[in-house]
This record gives sequence, C-alpha cells and structure tokens, in this order.
Amino acid sequence: MDDVIFLNGDFISKSNAQISIMDRGFLFGDGVYELIPIYNGKTFLIDKHLSRLDNSLKLINMKNDSAEIVNIKGTIEHLIKTNNYKNFFIYIHITRGLQKQRQHIYPSEIKPTVLIMGEQYPSFTMEQITKGFKACIQDDYRWAKSNIKSISLLGNVLLKNLAAEQGMFETILMRNNKLTEGSASNVFIVKDQIIQTPKLGNELLPGVTRDLIIGLLQDKNLQVKECDVSVDDVSKADEVWCSSSTNAVVPIVNIDGNQINHGSAGDITLKTHQLVQDFINNY
Ligand code: PDD
Repeated sequence: MDDVIFLNGDFISKSNAQISIMDRGFLFGDGVYELIPIYNGKTFLIDKHLSRLDNSLKLINMKNDSAEIVNIKGTIEHLIKTNNYKNFFIYIHITRGLQKQRQHIYPSEIKPTVLIMGEQYPSFTMEQITKGFKACIQDDYRWAKSNIKSISLLGNVLLKNLAAEQGMFETILMRNNKLTEGSASNVFIVKDQIIQTPKLGNELLPGVTRDLIIGLLQDKNLQVKECDVSVDDVSKADEVWCSSSTNAVVPIVNIDGNQINHGSAGDITLKTHQLVQDFINNY
C-alpha cells in the first residue's frame, strides 16, 4: 500500500502528491530540510532536529510561524501511526513556496511549501561495520554556508557519487587543507588515542549524531578535541569514522587506496559505535 504523506496541510497518498513547477524549491533549490530517525516507532532526538530546522529557516530568512511548521511534531506522530513506521526516517522538506513568476527576489509575504514523509535507508549490519568502508578525499567546492541544511544539494550529490562510482562509502572534504565534513556525514579521526573532529562553523553541518557522539564519549571520560584537522592528519590517522543519522558510526578503513588501521575498524571506532547503539536501544 502507498504511504500517507503530509503536503501543505493535507494527508494524502505519496503517489498522489504534487507540487507546482513554480515552487521556489523546484526552480531555485530555495529551501531547507531535516531527516529524523525513528527507532521502534519513536522519533529519535526530535527536539535537536527541529531546533536545527528552525535555525536553518532563520538563516535563509524564512518565518517559522505557519500552522504546518508550528504543528510539525503532531504531524510526524500522525504519519508514524498511520503508516505504522517502526524503524524508518522522517524527511521534512520546506521550501520558500510558490511564486507566480520565476524571479530571484522573493516577496516578503509568501506561504512555505511543507512536505513531510517517511523514507527508508538501509542500515549496515555489524559484519559490514567491523569490516569497514572505503573513502576518498576531495576539495570541498560546495558553497560557504554548509551549516544550513539546504535542499540545494548539488555539490553534495556530485561528491557522494564520486565515492559511489569507485565503490566507496564517502567523500571526505577538505577546504584550504582543513577537514570540513563528508558529503553526507561528519568526520572524526583518532591519532595516538586522541579523538578529533572539526569545530563547528559555517563550513560544516552541526550534525545531531556528531553532538550525541561527543556527549556519549565525554560521559566515558573520552574527550573529543574540536580542532583543525589537515589532509595529513586524516591520511595518517589511526582511526577514521563518519557519523550521520542514517548510519550513526561508519568506520573508514581505506582512504584513496591507503589503509587506515591495517584495513580494519579500530577499537575506539567500534566502542563509539556500541555506545551509540546502546543509547538508541535504551532511548
Ligand atoms: N545528512 N553533514 C552533511 C553534509 C550531511 O548531509 C549530514 C546528514 C551530516 C550528519 O548530520 P546528522 O548527524 O544530523 O544526520 C553531516 C542526512 C543523513 C541526509 O542528507 O540524508
């Protein structure tokens, strides 16, 4: 059966959902999004995701007071119940809305387009996690406001596909010899037992999973240093992992053909993976 989704105030079947070609999301990629995991029928860290959504809206000069946005939590609960989602993801997509003419300048009063739907992403098995994944390093040529969860994802899409074409999981991004993030994840490295990840700023997304991981490790007296990380630091790291809501901790064991930790997932990476899994299981 077709899933029920939410579009601009209506609960309708996914295959019947339509938006106008004059929507600014379609024409300009003018909008923001969020992806919230559901584990066992329960939303995971929803307040953190909604607060980031709120911030993304603010950063693109959009209001957050339309009924569809104000009632977002209730809508998500309704979709989870109606579709009987157990282990799934909720995708929220908000564009600036519909305008009669295609023009760059948006009017001060415009009604946002709000789409909320369920999406499924494959999660890795423990066997895949232990084996680890490959990655490549590339110049981060995306725009300079990557802290906004923008629906304009062309840069991320091209960079992710670069990895996929080579049978790799992720493209690790560098700007001016500084690690920013992955094309769809945040990145951590370990060197001499010190865990490091780039500090937050305009050049990377403030990942909800990144934040969770830092807190969980701190609780175990493992400090994460938020600092500059160079290409050399990544290539010579003892361990590397990527974090995101879709696959919380993904060990990287090979970068551009060079092995990390002799080609297998490291102890701190696997410990972090377990900490997140335990947190999810007890949530
Ligand atoms: N993306 N950085 C980028 C560029 C991302 O696209 C993502 C996640 C993250 C991790 O953020 P979080 O831990 O809050 O999921 C970092 C989602 C999964 C996506 O676009 O599908």
